[in-house]
Amino acid sequence: MHELLPLTEEQREIQNVAREFAREHITPFAADWDARAHFERPVIDKLGELGFLGMLLPEEYDGLGLDTFSYLLALEEIAAADASTAVAMSVHNSLPTQMVLRWGTEAQKREFLAPMARGEMLGAFALSEAEAGSDAASLRAQGVRDGDDWVLTGTKSWVSSGGQADVYLTMVRTDTAANRRGARGISAFVLTPDLPGFAIGKKEDKMGLRASPTTELVFEQLRVPGDRLLGEEGSGFIYAMQSLDNGRLGIAAQAIGIARAALDLSTAYAADRKQFGQALRELQAIQFKLADMALKVTAARTLLHATATAKDRGVRTTQFGSMSKLYASEAAMWVTTQAVQIFGGYGYMKEYPVERLFRDAKVTEIYEGTSEIQRIVIARELYSHL
Ligand code: CAA
Repeated sequence: MHELLPLTEEQREIQNVAREFAREHITPFAADWDARAHFERPVIDKLGELGFLGMLLPEEYDGLGLDTFSYLLALEEIAAADASTAVAMSVHNSLPTQMVLRWGTEAQKREFLAPMARGEMLGAFALSEAEAGSDAASLRAQGVRDGDDWVLTGTKSWVSSGGQADVYLTMVRTDTAANRRGARGISAFVLTPDLPGFAIGKKEDKMGLRASPTTELVFEQLRVPGDRLLGEEGSGFIYAMQSLDNGRLGIAAQAIGIARAALDLSTAYAADRKQFGQALRELQAIQFKLADMALKVTAARTLLHATATAKDRGVRTTQFGSMSKLYASEAAMWVTTQAVQIFGGYGYMKEYPVERLFRDAKVTEIYEGTSEIQRIVIARELYSHL
């Protein structure tokens, strides 16, 4: 199936490189990684060698300096092969690297951004806590000044690439005198696992994305040098929100990759599988499903690509980003449900890949803001000009 929006020669080339890479290094192994809940760090390192961990970063910091559209094309290809690998790539490219690029000091850029762009350091993002999921501004982990340092205490939850990442962009409350809820008074820090008092907590046992580790981060009197504060004290929540505007485009591309893989597998299966003396593809009940699946994949992709194009032109895309993420994730859940149905009994078995796609799709409706949060963002933006 082809994209509706035209691709440049360079974009087509990036898409092909990602597709070939996925075919060789990811697709044959994805089911095994999922079964063993195994994070394959070497494949992340190889993505780094291709430049795919610095796609949106300027060449000055060893990035590829590409546009958002190109990055999302590559991400869809990786996600179609393995959503777990894709989330590490998405979080890294959209959140920690963009935060350091936008608000970091020159020294932070040299120390963290360039190695992240080269793929020598994997980045992660820590905002949520056990009691602060959708209501992110109620987070309670805190940082207190101690001379030139900060001392952090608390626990962050559901951190993608936890335990594998080398750099964690982490939001904690630094205005501890202010009331316990509120966006102002939260600051962002560049944390690394070597800091005294930094520990990886519980590793989650998940329904899907099993090959992507999700953990807690536990800070016990974690001592952080003052130069690890990112940007302005008290602005961390705003930085996180602005970064999630971009992150949500990555999750949309991931969802589209999952949905597209389910559609491709279903199309091939329906041509092969015979019941009632004919291939499934001859049955109108199946044709209707395949048509609706293709429609949703195309609609999701076209909305995302249009949003990426607008963003690359400098348009603020908070609302369209939430629309893209919401539409693509609900499409992925719907399309993978139909795929399991088309495969029938086989679809319910782990032997066939649609079962994994179905499990992987669900989280795209949850992380980087649930579908309900996306609807809130979209609705609020309708009134933003008033
Ligand atoms: N861009 C810029 N600023 C923004 C913004 C945006 N998109 N969204 C909010 N802000 C600013 C507001 O303007 C406001 O600033 P002022 O104080 O100057 O007025 C401030 O942030 C607070 O905003 P709100 O009053 O809107 O805050 P709120 O408490 O009502 O929450 C929310 C807003 C949209 C519900 C937000 O809490 C939210 O997005 N929640 C979902 C959290 C989320 O997405 N978590 C994802 C976890 S990370 C993850 O999943 C990564 C992974 O590992 C895969």
